[in-house]
Amino acid sequence: MAEVSILVGAQWGDEGKGKWSDHLSRDADVVARFQGGNNAGHTIYVDGEKLVLHQVPCGFGNNEQILALTAGVVVNPGELWKEISLLSERLSPEITKRVMVSYNSFVITPWHIHLDKKSEESSLNPIGTTKRGIGPTYQDRVSRLGLKFYEYLNPKYREAWVNKMRRASDEFAAYFEENKEVWSEFFCASSHLSAFAGNVETLLREMILCTNKKIFLEGAQGVLLDVNHGTYPYVTSSSTIAAGAACSIGFDPRLITKIYGVAKAYITRVGGGSFPSEDLGEEGKLLGDKGQEYGATTGRRRRCGWFDAVAMRYAQDINGFDSILLNKLDILSGFKTLKIATAYKDQTGKIVKEFSNRFHDLTFMEAQYEEFEGWEEDISKVKRFAELPEKAQTYIRAIEELSSVRVEYIGNGPNKDDFVTC
Ligand code: GDP
Ligand code: IMO
Ligand code: MG
Repeated sequence: MAEVSILVGAQWGDEGKGKWSDHLSRDADVVARFQGGNNAGHTIYVDGEKLVLHQVPCGFGNNEQILALTAGVVVNPGELWKEISLLSERLSPEITKRVMVSYNSFVITPWHIHLDKKSEESSLNPIGTTKRGIGPTYQDRVSRLGLKFYEYLNPKYREAWVNKMRRASDEFAAYFEENKEVWSEFFCASSHLSAFAGNVETLLREMILCTNKKIFLEGAQGVLLDVNHGTYPYVTSSSTIAAGAACSIGFDPRLITKIYGVAKAYITRVGGGSFPSEDLGEEGKLLGDKGQEYGATTGRRRRCGWFDAVAMRYAQDINGFDSILLNKLDILSGFKTLKIATAYKDQTGKIVKEFSNRFHDLTFMEAQYEEFEGWEEDISKVKRFAELPEKAQTYIRAIEELSSVRVEYIGNGPNKDDFVTC
């Protein structure tokens, strides 16, 4: 049987998925993204140098593996070409032979970016999107007005798309006329990308049905940003959960062999929306400063708070994680007291233990905490669980118990080898 592993963010994104994807996919035959676009920012370190990937999956363990963007992904062609060129320069020119983009992925056009910016700038309650055109592109996909990657590559099909859009919207027609240069640049990028286009889903299905193949599927964003199960409307526009991978690639979900959830030992969120365990005081600020919590895509400062076991139980129920990879425990060294949200208090004073993704409820939830003594020691060189300070061990065991998860590895630094085995 093939091994089909899926790794997803278990919180509101930026949990450190890139690092683990790079590490765990080292002997995979294919590493694939199944949703999202260049709203993602996945950080890895290669020979001590930082590299942020937005569209290409983080799979640099060997020079053979295919790096695939599947049907569920939205592609920004110009940015993708820049990213491939950067990887080719920084890692190896061989990379250009390994990237594959699904004919069936949808293209983010200048129009979609324009709409995203416009709606964020005119809204009284902006979502705080990355303004990369993600929402409008998925919107056109479900409206059956989207531009598929194979259409984008073919001048005849893309002209037909422009004409269809012109007829559908006067605003589009005006935008198209007024921004001819932008469109021309956008279409020009296709000349670099046709070499990467392929029948990705068919290839993946063939590999999944083979013995001895290893398929690694890298999620973007996180469970709480999922369009169905996240904190709507403050979500992204795709299915970020593990089951989303089978849906957007199209394979028998019973063939998934392992599901990893990535979380931080605290929690962050970037953009708007409710955040029950947010710490708006000094300690939240300290978490942000020590953890260098700035968005890898937009550079915005991330909001910080305490590990939320209520939300993690919800993420576990939705995804069925086999294990959790818990990052950034090193950032917690030196805090006198640590907190874990174990329940919420609602507006009537009732204690609730279940996560609610209903905006009108979640906004008024007040996190109820259990407190833990912190530790002073630097843990960045620790390799085994038993070598961690006792108080750090107690904190991890509490996370496992309170969230009903199993922590398999603990991250204690940004490099892919910086981890503690549990
Ligand atoms: P992703 O979007 O889930 O891939 O995460 P990001 O790359 O946006 O953000 C995670 C940040 O935390 C990056 O700057 C990583 O280099 C960093 N990081 C990941 N794991 C650890 C860890 O265990 N300790 C420390 N100190 N930093 C980490
Ligand atoms: P990675 O893969 C954190 C957030 C945005 C905003 C909401 C909608 O690096 O974890 P969008 O541009 O997707 O329409 O924005 O989702 N968001 C992320 N937050 N990490 C990400 O990706 C994110 N991608 C989108 O901040 O709140
Ligand atoms: Mg990120």
